[in-house]
Order: sequence, then structure tokens, then C-alpha cells
Amino acid sequence: MLMKLGIRIKNYMREGYSTVMRSKVFVGIAFIVIIFGIFYGANQFAGQSEESLESREEVTFSSIYPGLNREIHTKETEKYTTSISRPYTEDATINESINEWINQQEKEFKINMEKWTEDGADTVHRGHLNIQVETEKIAEMIYTLEFKAYQIAGGANGINRSKAFVIDLNENEQLHLFDVIDKNEASIQNIQKLIEEELYSRQDIEDYLFEDKIEDDLEELDSVEWSVNHEGLAIYFDEYEIAAGAAGSINIIIPLSKIKPYLQESFAHKIMEDFPETNGDTENEEDSDQKDEKKEEDLDPNKKYVALTFDDGPHPEVTPRVLDTLEKYESTATFFMLGSQVDYYPLLAKRVVADGHEIGNHTMNHPDLTTLDVKQIIEEVVVSSSIIEEATGINPKLIRPPYGAFNDDVKNIVEDKNLSIIMWSVDSLDWKSREAEAINEEVMSNVSDGSIILLHDIHSATADALPQLLDSLDKEGYKTISVTHLIELRENSGAGPYFSR
Ligand code: NI
Repeated sequence: MLMKLGIRIKNYMREGYSTVMRSKVFVGIAFIVIIFGIFYGANQFAGQSEESLESREEVTFSSIYPGLNREIHTKETEKYTTSISRPYTEDATINESINEWINQQEKEFKINMEKWTEDGADTVHRGHLNIQVETEKIAEMIYTLEFKAYQIAGGANGINRSKAFVIDLNENEQLHLFDVIDKNEASIQNIQKLIEEELYSRQDIEDYLFEDKIEDDLEELDSVEWSVNHEGLAIYFDEYEIAAGAAGSINIIIPLSKIKPYLQESFAHKIMEDFPETNGDTENEEDSDQKDEKKEEDLDPNKKYVALTFDDGPHPEVTPRVLDTLEKYESTATFFMLGSQVDYYPLLAKRVVADGHEIGNHTMNHPDLTTLDVKQIIEEVVVSSSIIEEATGINPKLIRPPYGAFNDDVKNIVEDKNLSIIMWSVDSLDWKSREAEAINEEVMSNVSDGSIILLHDIHSATADALPQLLDSLDKEGYKTISVTHLIELRENSGAGPYFSR
């Protein structure tokens, strides 16, 4: 649910991170067990042949949601920043309807930005568009994608939008409400009643509700925004749709136990089978197989050292290429990961750690943190850390705020969570040029001893640039080490900029 993040964080605070996303952990562990079973099984027969290594990568680094992948696209201009999570399937029609909604949000944002600029926007604040998505497996190859978009383009308040897609990748189709619930008079009426009951039981919004608008809305039940998961049927209402603005956007969940009688039998069967109503506790018992921390005791303070940092991953294609090159050059780097990407590719995150690299937190959804309130900042930081720790066994000690944007609230919160803010001193501009040659030039003409170099393991051009970059650095006498080691080594000699706790 959109509320799920909130629930997750509440769980986190109440019970500690190990219960966060219990069901996902369960699915994740089951998957890991299967994958490693296949991998070791295959290895016993094939030995260390190239073939087995290839198939290992292919299998190991696919998404934990079979048939589904995701990418994040970020953009930065003088006036605004955007961060857009884009899940995609192998089916063009499904992708199209997802993209259509995303493009609509972008269009609206650009129009609002133009208006803001024309009205003489203040030059202090930048606009921001953030489109994030939560993915939930509700049955075999059936997923709920819950999108949440917020945009700030002038005005005191941002605009929030919700959208959900329930997709069945067995049939490659987007499910509609009447694919899920029975389309007969009685069940429709009962569901309408359940929604109304749920709305009027909410004391926080009760006073703002418009009775007639609710009636109108529910009249056309199949045009209501909805999704379903093992918690129940979720219904989404935009701001002003059924209530005064003070109520904001409204999301409700009708528990599965109440909705069950109206579900189509075949669908009910599928989701019940995959998610028995009581979820057994699944302890996260995996041990991180991180190599012993590379011993850096031979570091010579008189030599030249730099830290390569890779942001916004893990990415299913680019990150493995970056890791292979780093391995070849015996180079160590630091990866600032997005919790939302680690959620999809936990085994890839695990490999980053197993290869001896350092992991930092880059928030959950890549928002401009300065546009969020304190509660939202905490969510972005804490949920991401917990997902990274679940996947890798490492609790990050470093954070890089998206776009390098932070304020006093952000500083206080990360300090409270024992995280150090790490910025950069050399921007490869890979996000802008997307061109290997240009990336190398940009870095090599700006690098000096103690530099923290910003790269992104989401652009293929960055992976293309890396072998030559490592060659050039080596030729000029630079050694690459993790951010933490660089800061220890160069504490008083200008490594940074960074802020430690
Ligand atoms: Ni970033």
C-alpha cells in the first residue's frame, strides 16, 4: 500500500528492522535458496567452466520479481530535479500503459514549472518531481505496482498523485477490478458499502468528506483507482476527489477477510494459495559472505589516493559490468545504493559487498530531501538502510543525499542514525554526457589527491569508461580506495567535501 512505507517504518521502530517486509524477506530467502541451489548444483557438474559462470550471472542478478525489472531515471537542471522509477516487463502493452501515466505526470510537472517560472519563481528553491513505485508480488507472476508521484513546482504545497497497476504476467495483461471481483449487483453493492464504511470510520478525514462526491465516485466502481494485495483491497482517492483539500489524498484498505466473499473464485484461490493468511516468522539468517575487509594497512600516506563512488544502483546490466572491471583492476569503490533498487536486486547488492566494496545509503526513492518533512526524511533514510542491511548484512554508515541536497533537518536526522554525509569533489558528469570519452576527460582534468569522484552505475557509458579511467588513474599514480579509508587517511588534508557525524 501507499501506507505500506508508513507501516514498514512503524514496524521498524516498534520491532526492529528484522520484521520489516517480512513477506518480502520470505520470498527473497526462498528465491535465494533456489538460486544458490541451482548455482551450486550446476557447479558440481560443470566445475568452474565459463558456461557455469555465465549462467550464474544471468540467474543470480535477475530481479526477485520474475518478469519484472526497474530502472530509475534522474535529471537535474538549474530550475528543477526529477527522479522517476520505471518498472518494465517484457510486454509492450503493459509497459505502454505504465509509461503513459508516468509521461502524463512529467508533462503536468513541466507545465507547472513553466507557470512558476513565468510568475517569477524564487531562485532559492528548485522544483522537484518524484515518481516512486512499490512492488508487491500477490501471486505467482501477478504483481501490484503502486505508484506515488509528488511534485513541487511553486505554491506552498506539492501535488500528490497515486496510481496502481495490477498486472498478471502469466497472461501479460493488466487486471481490471472486475477481473478480480465478481461483477454482479450484490457484490458491487456490498463493496460500495464496505468502502463507505471504511471512509466514515476514519476520524482524521471524517469531517472533510463530501457525501455526494463519494456516491458519484462509487457509482462507477470500475473507474475507481484500486489495487489488491494480501492485505486486502486498496482504494485510492486523489486530493479533492471526495473530500476537502485538508484531507489530502485518501487511501483505504478493506481487509482481505471482508473482501474475500466478493473475489472471483479463481483469483481468490491464487492469492490465498500464495499467501496463507498467517505468515510464519521468517528470520533473516543469511550470513553475509563479505570477504575479509581488505587490509589497507599498507596504505602509504605519501601516495595519491582517490575514492570512486557509484550512485543510484544497483542496475541489473551496468552494475555487474562495473564490478567485473573493478575486479580486473583490483580496485575498491563505494556504492551509494537506492533502497528501491536493492529491493529488486538484493543478490546484486550482496555481490557488491562480497567483492569487497563499500556500501552507502542513497535513500529509498531518490527524492530531493529538502522538499520533504521530517517524518518523510526519516522514512527515506531508515527504510533504505533496512533494505540494504537485509540484502547484504551491512548496515550502511555513509549516506549521500540525492542531488547533494540537504538542510539542517537532514543533517540532524542522519546524525541521529549514525550516518555520515558524503558529498563529492569531482563530478564525472556521466549523467549529462553519457559518453565514455567525455567522462574520462572530465575526471582526469579535475582529479587530485584525496578526490571523491562521482559516477553512476546506471549508465552503460559509465561502465564503458571505467577500464580506461582506471588505467589513466594508475598511470598518474593514483590508487582507488573506499570513501571510509580515504577519509581516515586524508582526514586533515582535504578529502571531501564530506560531513562526518
Ligand atoms: Ni543519485
